[in-house]
Amino acid sequence: MYILGIETSCDETAAAVVNGKKELLSNVVFSQLKIHKPYGGVVPEFASRNHLKKINTVIGQAIREAGIKLSDLNAISVTYKPGLVGSLLIGISTAKALAYALNIPLIGINHIYGHIYANYVNDNRKKFPGIALVVSGGHTSLFLCRGHNKFSLLSQTRDDAAGEAFDKVSKSMNLGYPGGPLIEKMAKAGDPGAFKFPSARFKKGNKLDFSFSGLKTAVWCTYNKNINVKNFNLHDLAAGFQKSVVDTLVRNTFESANRYKIKSILLSGGVASNSSLREAMQEKAKKEGLDLFCPPKEFCTDNGAMVAVAGAYKFKKGMKFEFGLEPDAAF
Ligand code: KG4
Ligand code: ZN
Repeated sequence: MYILGIETSCDETAAAVVNGKKELLSNVVFSQLKIHKPYGGVVPEFASRNHLKKINTVIGQAIREAGIKLSDLNAISVTYKPGLVGSLLIGISTAKALAYALNIPLIGINHIYGHIYANYVNDNRKKFPGIALVVSGGHTSLFLCRGHNKFSLLSQTRDDAAGEAFDKVSKSMNLGYPGGPLIEKMAKAGDPGAFKFPSARFKKGNKLDFSFSGLKTAVWCTYNKNINVKNFNLHDLAAGFQKSVVDTLVRNTFESANRYKIKSILLSGGVASNSSLREAMQEKAKKEGLDLFCPPKEFCTDNGAMVAVAGAYKFKKGMKFEFGLEPDAAF
């Protein structure tokens, strides 16, 4: 069995192939980073135009590198939400045309669940029941995963996503885009204790919810207040900000594991490639006697492999082509 996974929800045009054992045979990602960089963020119209330009080449390469022919495919999985509607539309239309021409099932994948399945790329160890933290540019959410495709949302951010906070803080410090890797690099040479930022915690409503907009503003104010001060160290500021984000993510994740008596934690999403977050999670998991799963960094940011693997776990014999699949901006 061969399943092709297609991902075009934001600014990566990606395709991958897995076999029946859910082994990854190919994984092709065309990043539009250079195109959007001058604008300091993703320009939706440019994103969809460039998906359209690249999608056939990327799929062709994924099929070739997997050592198969298009006609060998048994199903196609594609991200259909959440994301930029124009971008999703390119992936969905291409997937529909291919599935129709090959007369094989089309499987719609929720991008957020796709991120969770990045933990199953070339790794079929049992991880459920588990608590999954998805930290990306658009989402910061915790899920209770009872089993495959049995996920319930426990909490999410009430304002900015963690990745969004990294990007905005980086922009306000004139470091560039995308902010995550740049802040991480800056923070490496900084003292996380030099600037202490509180971690937002809710008294009302869901206590496991996240908030990063107050922190973002606090970092911005500190930057503006100190920028002309002698010996002001930008590395320290980056480290202080990163520590606050990491502390919040670790605290809420382990509190939910405790609350639901879960022994397994799954990280995913672009921010999960942050070394400081990975180390802090690992340390806490060891202390608490929990298992921590975290995909290799290349599978944390958007990719086709996670969509192909999620498709493989969703695929059932006798499945039909989903004609009605439509893009959706919301989760
Ligand atoms: O999952 P992803 O590739 O796309 C979305 O679904 O949003 O995540 C992109 C986000 C960006 O906000 C980026 O700044 C952040 O992940 N990111 C990082 C790191 N690498 C990427 N954040 C912190 N540390 C990193 N090393
Ligand atoms: Zn993503």
